[in-house]
Amino acid sequence: MRSSSVSDIYKKFTQQSLVLHRFRNGRNFSTQSEHPKPYKSIPGLNSLPVIGTLHHFLPLVGEVGMKANMFEMFIVLHKKYGPIVKMEGLFSRADMVLLFEPEHFEQVYKAEEAHPWRPGFESLEYYRENLRRSTFDGVYGLTTAQGAKWREFRTKVNPAMLKPKLVKLYAPGLDEIAKEMVDRLTRLKDQGDYLKQYYDKEVTRWSLESVAFVGLGTRLGSLNDGLPEDHPSNILIKCSKDIMDLTFKLELLPRFLKFFTKSTFMKLMDVLDLQWEISTRYINEVRKSINERENEMLEEDKSIIEKLLAIDEKVAVMMANEMLLAGIDTVAFTTTNLLYHLSINPNVQDKLREEIRSGETSRYLKACLKEALRMWHVIPGNLRRASKEHIVGGYVIPRGVDVIAPNEYLSRLEKYYPQPNKFIPERWLVDKTDPLYHGRAHPMVTLPFGFGVRSCIGRRIAELEIEILFKRLINELKVSWEGPPLKVVSKLMNSFAKPFYFKFEKAE
Ligand code: HEM
Repeated sequence: MRSSSVSDIYKKFTQQSLVLHRFRNGRNFSTQSEHPKPYKSIPGLNSLPVIGTLHHFLPLVGEVGMKANMFEMFIVLHKKYGPIVKMEGLFSRADMVLLFEPEHFEQVYKAEEAHPWRPGFESLEYYRENLRRSTFDGVYGLTTAQGAKWREFRTKVNPAMLKPKLVKLYAPGLDEIAKEMVDRLTRLKDQGDYLKQYYDKEVTRWSLESVAFVGLGTRLGSLNDGLPEDHPSNILIKCSKDIMDLTFKLELLPRFLKFFTKSTFMKLMDVLDLQWEISTRYINEVRKSINERENEMLEEDKSIIEKLLAIDEKVAVMMANEMLLAGIDTVAFTTTNLLYHLSINPNVQDKLREEIRSGETSRYLKACLKEALRMWHVIPGNLRRASKEHIVGGYVIPRGVDVIAPNEYLSRLEKYYPQPNKFIPERWLVDKTDPLYHGRAHPMVTLPFGFGVRSCIGRRIAELEIEILFKRLINELKVSWEGPPLKVVSKLMNSFAKPFYFKFEKAE
């Protein structure tokens, strides 16, 4: 697929990144105030040439110090600087402003709803919009596109992705996958320390199998024993991991730490080619079987892929790739998060098992999932880049600055949720008169799936996959935790540090 030389391609990519800095000089006021304080007077972390803000994060001498995750970093920044904190050019990105008051980021996010701009994945954007422009032919995806390009794609795929008959279409297949996963865990639990080291691999295999069933219309067989290294399932898992790791290196590490950036960049381009080729192969198979079908199918019974194929084959492949990009680690993380909280709260687990066995409702299960998502967000803070100037809390925030809502941190503050560090699913079920009632928190505090028209398009698929798995898992297995507390580490998004001390037993 590659025609230009490596140097040409890389040079064009780096030139494009400079556009952002030119854009910053423009002015376009959204809000007026008589005497707002200038942007430069916002307290926070200043930047030094070359190293950016890295010095603030050095152990012992840095103002913030080494932190394992964003949550811990937000605690320090909030305490030290107050409700509005500026971070200049952190990790060689645009300036960021952290807003710790929900009313403040609500003001900005709502004002940006017409064209919500969520930066990130700059190299993937370059891949789609420049390097492989002829392949994508005006189809840019959701995670990377902005403005009119994003809106056009989202408008096309929304009806297919948000189909009301999702459960009827996918629940039986997802339940088969859940059954395989629970059978697998039942076998693996007796194989010494295997799960301690490789539980994360297993949950990722389940998550890939589930999302590929929806997005590629196929059963990959990820949960089978003895898969060879070149099995599509292993390749797709590696692709997804490589995309995250390489993107992290390219976009978030301080400039001087981006060793061998050019080779990292070209490696990423190769991985993206490979993922696109695999998705195209599976989508073609679905198209073939639709063409060979003899009977007309009711519109409401058509799968997501069939609906996407009716728009355009490229749209179907692009959306499949988006699902593979955004729907594997996110679901695996949330599943581990919920499993962990159930394992350290045996009373909640028993109550959930009772509900599942009664077969009457999923109310408690849904509340458990909401509570797990409150405790640990996959993405610790939401993000919008200001497309115009805002005046917030008496300060000017210029266009081009990234406005961060530290939702995970806020979701653990006593002022929004009583006993915030306790896993209490009941807070999502009790009524207004109860002090635990979740509605006492500002509605913008807990946003695990993001905000507004640009929020997660896979939310209902994710919830369906997780609920179906837990119905089987908690019915059949009792899970406990035999080790020190599970730790979160933050890279592009949150993940968990090994090892995993889950203990699975047959449930009575
Ligand atoms: C529990 C699991 C998941 C969580 C917590 C999650 C969370 C999020 C968040 C926070 C965003 C950013 C929203 C914003 O900027 O307002 C997002 C976007 C997105 N998610 Fe998810 N997600 C999950 C699962 C999935 C799945 C299973 C898929 C695909 C099937 C998916 C596909 C996407 C896509 C394509 C976007 C970009 C949407 C856009 O920009 O229009 N996600 N997700």
